[in-house]
Amino acid sequence: MNNEDLFKKVVSHCKEYGFVFPSSEIYDGLAAVYDYGQNGVELRNNIRQYWWKSMTQLQTNILGIDAAIFMHPKTWKASGHIDGFSDPMIDNKDSKKRYRADVLLEDHQEKLRAKADKEVEKARARFGDSFDETMYRSTNPRVVEYLNAIAHIDNTLKEGLETGNLGMIKALIEELGIVCPVSGSKYWTDVRQFNLMYSTQMSAVESGEDSLYLRPETAQGIFVNFLNVQKSGRAKIPFGIAQTGKAFRNEIVARQFIMRMKEFEQMEMQFFCKPGTELEWYAYWKEQRLKWHLSLGVYAAKYRYHDHVKLAHYANAAVDIEFDFPFGFKEVEGIHSRTDFDLSKHEEFSGKKLRYFDPETNESYIPYVVETSIGLDRMFLLTLCASYTEDTVDGEVRTVLRIPPALAPVKAAILPLVKKDGLPEMAEKIYNDLRFDFKLYIEDKDSIGKRYRRMDAIGTPFCITVDHDSLINEDVTIRYRDTMEQRRVKISELRDILHRETDMSSLLQKLA
Ligand code: GAP
Repeated sequence: MNNEDLFKKVVSHCKEYGFVFPSSEIYDGLAAVYDYGQNGVELRNNIRQYWWKSMTQLQTNILGIDAAIFMHPKTWKASGHIDGFSDPMIDNKDSKKRYRADVLLEDHQEKLRAKADKEVEKARARFGDSFDETMYRSTNPRVVEYLNAIAHIDNTLKEGLETGNLGMIKALIEELGIVCPVSGSKYWTDVRQFNLMYSTQMSAVESGEDSLYLRPETAQGIFVNFLNVQKSGRAKIPFGIAQTGKAFRNEIVARQFIMRMKEFEQMEMQFFCKPGTELEWYAYWKEQRLKWHLSLGVYAAKYRYHDHVKLAHYANAAVDIEFDFPFGFKEVEGIHSRTDFDLSKHEEFSGKKLRYFDPETNESYIPYVVETSIGLDRMFLLTLCASYTEDTVDGEVRTVLRIPPALAPVKAAILPLVKKDGLPEMAEKIYNDLRFDFKLYIEDKDSIGKRYRRMDAIGTPFCITVDHDSLINEDVTIRYRDTMEQRRVKISELRDILHRETDMSSLLQKLA
């Protein structure tokens, strides 16, 4: 299966099996907004819980909070989001459609890259084994021209954004003859910066002064509570504060399903440390976070670090953890050494001291911060892309989600072989006994084969079949999703087996 097919299949599988639906679909949906269905919400809760436990249960010095989505408007002035959290936008005057100028340029670069690749493939076919791709890419005039054009776009875009010269970016769009994908015209407005925050009002009367913003990141709720948590939790530096919750961004470019949404969830942790030690902690968290990803059993080669060369003005180190999605390597998590920027700014704007008093040295200082920030929805998409597989069994395609058992929406299905002879009653008894410990499913409709396939498709790791022998021997067949191996086990053993195989503690142990 190629990547394009895989992605299409994952998206339609999500809808067909109750993982993700377009928001308000009966009204034709809302761009870049999605709802999670009955299986999606379980998977998402489990991913969130694994992250939460790994932070607040496994680490003795990380405390959790849940701050409100609404925050005092000054928060966003202090954090720099009011002045600097924007994308360069351009409108087409004919279609009235709005685009991100940088995305129009990136799409154009993609086309140039595809043309260069096509030339290379033609040459490879012509020269056969003796073909030297590196040499060809650096000497063939047509390929060199494409590659130079790509670099020219990069440089001009970068300079335009860094210097705030948006005219340069518009001129580049015109120079390249980029047309509106809808109207096909080159009739563009100027490029303007467009703030990504959504605003609303605090009171019923719109006054302009009481504008509130829907938070574009959860991190600021942690910064403003730094002293509350430190004092009430008697926390000693170094320590962290973790939070999960919704964030909102007016992303104009809706792309790649739940990869870039307007309403999404973040799982963030700010680690407060002594100035001068932040780069050691940065290295620690960089390694620790990749370890968390790898604990879920995905091939290490599907991940890579992308170190930032150009750093935001407040950071002294930053890296993305990227995953090889079907549409290429993309960021799933960021680790940023944010210095004392945020706390200093909140100190300045609130007039309140946000310092840590170190009782051992009698010093008082603004701590430095290392942040880990992962998108829950991207992690969800990653889990589905990594686990979606198609096997052929007896000439038929079997779709399986090989989700780690601890994250699976349903841990086990209890299936009476037939709908008579007391088997449904026995299945129900097992279900009623185990449902206090596990999320289960019970079903007696259709053939057992069909029921197995439905459970494979939602990633249920175990199917427990009750048959006539069960009535006599007090045992059942347990079927393993990944191998389809079947074993006979005593009903009295089921609880222990399911705990051993599906508890999150086995994942957490890999991190210790
Ligand atoms: N506090 C730092 C921060 O917000 P970010 O790189 O803007 O950093 C962190 O976001 C993570 O949030 C990203 O790595 C990504 O997983 C997720 N994320 C950001 N924007 C998103 C969007 N529009 N839709 C889904 N996830 C998003």
